[in-house]
This record gives sequence, structure tokens and C-alpha cells, in this order.
Amino acid sequence: MLDNFISIHDLTLYQFSKILDLTREIKDNSHRYRNKLKGKILAMIFQKPSLRTRMTFEVGMLQLGGEAVYLSPSDTQVGTRETLHDVGKNLERWVDAIMIRTFAHQNVIDLAQLCRIPIINALTDLLHPCQAMADFFTLKEKRGDLVNFKLAYVGDGNNVCHSLLSAAAKAGSKMSVATPPGYEPDPEIRKQAEEEGKETGASFFFTNDPSEAVENADAVYTDVWASMGQEQEKEKRAKLFASFQVNESLMAKAKKEAFFMHCLPAHRGEEVTDGVIDSTRSMVYDQAENRLHVQKVIMLSLLGKR
Ligand code: CP
Ligand code: NVA
Repeated sequence: MLDNFISIHDLTLYQFSKILDLTREIKDNSHRYRNKLKGKILAMIFQKPSLRTRMTFEVGMLQLGGEAVYLSPSDTQVGTRETLHDVGKNLERWVDAIMIRTFAHQNVIDLAQLCRIPIINALTDLLHPCQAMADFFTLKEKRGDLVNFKLAYVGDGNNVCHSLLSAAAKAGSKMSVATPPGYEPDPEIRKQAEEEGKETGASFFFTNDPSEAVENADAVYTDVWASMGQEQEKEKRAKLFASFQVNESLMAKAKKEAFFMHCLPAHRGEEVTDGVIDSTRSMVYDQAENRLHVQKVIMLSLLGKR
């Protein structure tokens, strides 16, 4: 069904909704898929840290009867010990697919061009497509209807925000984004989402005012203010983003029953308060769980055994 999984924007509308439907099936009937990837091996290149992504790919592969091999940043030292080109040309001789978490998005595109095996984007500075697929599955699971749904994203216009914009565009949802000036999402991704929205009915609203963004929202989403690789900007960003914290008073401006969402890891007390992330409205652990189910579908689609 898929050659690679690099961005949500690359998926057809059919592929996007099929992944969500199959995730429902696999989550409900995981026993049926126990040996579907028997004998298959996934290499996982990590150039940044991870808990959820590593665990869900590894556990997912094991549950499907395959295996996953973890390559830490210090194992591969891509770019220092050898080039990404040579890493890819070696790995494709031994394994069936490669998952990569890296910095430059171009690395994933290059790897997909140079390797004969499927490549999965497990986060770049630009996109985090596995996360947004799991998030939209979670929303569908909780609400059923993604069309009459408003997602408000508050914080940095980063990789997670970009993939959510692409997912909202495919799903036909409403999405508002509030960022500090200068931290808006990438204009090209915004344009793609708006263009696609003309076909699906999705609509987008961008502002620098968090209160305005969460008005009438069905879910409020945030992410860290300084992403992996931006640690040196942490203090500067903490000041600039202070009024973008998702706290009880901001949640009170959304719909009464609005969900709280976060890709995790969270910096409690910064972008979100304990009161919000630990509240009954919080879906953060459901989102994390659903990474497992959605990625099993992605791996089955790439490795051709469904
Ligand atoms: N949400 C997510 O990708 O978490 P990790 O960085 O722990 O993998
Ligand atoms: N925006 C965050 C997401 C972590 C899952 C980062 O890139 O560090």
C-alpha cells in the first residue's frame, strides 16, 4: 500500500483514512496480526533521544512477529563516523525497513531515494507524521467525527504542529494555531494545508493570541517550547512563550468538555500545568498508546503483508 512513510501530506485521502480504519481493526484484534511480519527486521536509527517512538516501534515489531534493531546516536554517528549514504547502503543489505529520527528533513528524503527498502520518518525538525496519525486516530476514537471538530494548537509552530496541520487538512477538520510572533508554522506547510482544505472542507486560523485560538475548541494541543536540538534557546523561549502556557484558565476558554493533548515528553510547569495534564480531560497517555497501533499499520502497509 505504501512505499515509504515520510509525511502525511504525501498520503492520498484514501491512504490517510485507510490507516485510521486499519488502526481500529488492529487495536481491536491484535491477535490476528501476531505473525504477519515474521522474519522481518526493522533498523531504527536514532539521532535524537526517545521513549515513545523507540518503544512503540520495537514493541509493535515484536507483536507482529518481527524484530527491531536499535541504533543509538553514538552507534551510528551519522555524518561523523560515516555518511548517511553509507549507513543506508549498508543497512539495506541486512534489514527489511529503516525507521529514522533525525534533524534535517532532507536526510529522510535522501535515505528514501538511495535505499531500496521502505523508510519511515520517526521525527525530523520539520515533521512528526507518526505522532499526528496517532493523534487523529485518538480524536476519532474519542469523538467519532473529525469534520465537525476544532483542534487548537498553542505554542511553537514546530514539527508536531506541521504534521497536525497536514492531518487536519486530510481529515477535513478545523484547526487554529496560536504562536508567538516569529514562531509561526512553516509558510509552505500552511499553504499546503490550506490548499488541501479546499477539497476536504478543512479550515485554518492562525493567530498570536492563545485565547482567540482556543475559543470553541474541542481539543487543545501543546508541545514543548524548545524542541530537541534547540536546547540552547530554552531560556529565551521560556520568556517568549510564557503567555502560551496551557493552564486551567486557558482551558476554561475552550469548550467545556474539550480534551487536552500533548505528544510528550511534557515539561510540566512550562507549556502545561500539572492541573491540566493530569485532569480527566487529558488524553496524553491514549495518544502515546495509539502510537503503537497506528505504527503497526504503517509497518504492515510498508512491508506488504496485511
Ligand atoms: N512523542 C514522541 O515522539 O515521544 P519520544 O520523543 O519519547 O519518542
Ligand atoms: N517538538 C518535539 C517533539 C518531541 C516528540 C521535538 O522535536 O523535540
